[in-house]
Amino acid sequence: MNKTVQEILSQSDFSREDLMTLLLSEGDDRKHLFEEAHNIKKANVGLKTYFRGLLEFSNICAKNCYYCGIRRSNGKVDRYFLTEEEVLSQVKYAIDNQYASIVLQSGERTDKKFTSQVTSLLKRIAELNEHRELGVTLSMGEQSEEVYREWFEAGANRYLIRIEASNPELYNRLHPHDKIHDYDRRLEAIRLLQKVGYQTGTGVMIGLPFQSITDLADDLLFMKENDIDMVGMGPYIEHHDTPLYQYKDSLMPQKDRYDLSLKMVAILRIMMKDINIAATTAMQTIDPLGREKAIKAGANVIMPNLTPVKYREGYLLYEDKPCLDEEAEECKTCLEARIAMSGDEIGYGETGTSLHYQRRMNKK
Ligand code: 5AD
Ligand code: SF4
Ligand code: FES
Repeated sequence: MNKTVQEILSQSDFSREDLMTLLLSEGDDRKHLFEEAHNIKKANVGLKTYFRGLLEFSNICAKNCYYCGIRRSNGKVDRYFLTEEEVLSQVKYAIDNQYASIVLQSGERTDKKFTSQVTSLLKRIAELNEHRELGVTLSMGEQSEEVYREWFEAGANRYLIRIEASNPELYNRLHPHDKIHDYDRRLEAIRLLQKVGYQTGTGVMIGLPFQSITDLADDLLFMKENDIDMVGMGPYIEHHDTPLYQYKDSLMPQKDRYDLSLKMVAILRIMMKDINIAATTAMQTIDPLGREKAIKAGANVIMPNLTPVKYREGYLLYEDKPCLDEEAEECKTCLEARIAMSGDEIGYGETGTSLHYQRRMNKK
């Protein structure tokens, strides 16, 4: 006989089948799942949400992921690269406003010109951050071990690299088949980052074409098996100028993708009690209260956008991305209200290092 959601929630470990039952739960079962996740969040990481100021500092990308609006072959995108001064002024804003953590994100490039620019930028940020009160996260894709090390030594201490889809066959359907879009290479990047010493984050998209509930259950197991410190995941949202757009009619409705994303957050919180989980922007794209609900369901990180507004149009990974016209200050006020609504306090002035990372390092 199939187990009930109650029975599954009372276990300490979940099988793939258990995870599928949780992902498909409805009504009272679904409510229970969210309540359990909320309680576990409260008991393990507290009802606190940390800010990560997000700077999308360049949309130039060497890759051609089939789902992404800023893929190399999309000629409609105006490409930009923030100046060092523009980045530093936003970093100052983050420091002055006690964000205590920033994320520098860009398209993926491995050329020396780019990697050296990032190094020099990190060194300038380190000068502003002499007391080390600012967490510095990078999200710049697959790089060599030396580059990861060079950036680590220049002051970066966290890195986000989504596996996007942990099933290699699905991964292959979402990316061109060549050396720079290789599943094993991406997996290796996660390992290298952990080896160099970064707090390491990954994540997946939810509701992708060709993706099954089994895939999502396996995605959750993937995070656990790989001892991940932080996770950002959210619904896949189609973009006109991408190859995957042709499958739009085969997708589940956006609100179902959102609901599955919310369940993924809740289940992951129950499975990995001490990691950091983001309430992602894509969740708000579908549901106006998407991020608040994610915070209630277990997320404890949110990323106010610090990218100067004149560049935001250039960083549309998917359609209807929010905050196109809101400068840093407006996103801050907006998120303060949203977090208050969810019942959390904001971890101002705290870097919010993943407890999982601290424990992982102490074990070594
Ligand atoms: N829908 C949702 N998320 C997307 N990303 C890229 N394109 C899309 C899309 N169409 C996500 C990827 C990437 C992150 C920066 O944005 O997961 O890792
Ligand atoms: Fe480039 Fe990232 Fe978009 Fe892929 S998802 S095309 S690597 S910006
Ligand atoms: Fe940017 Fe709400 S977070 S306007």
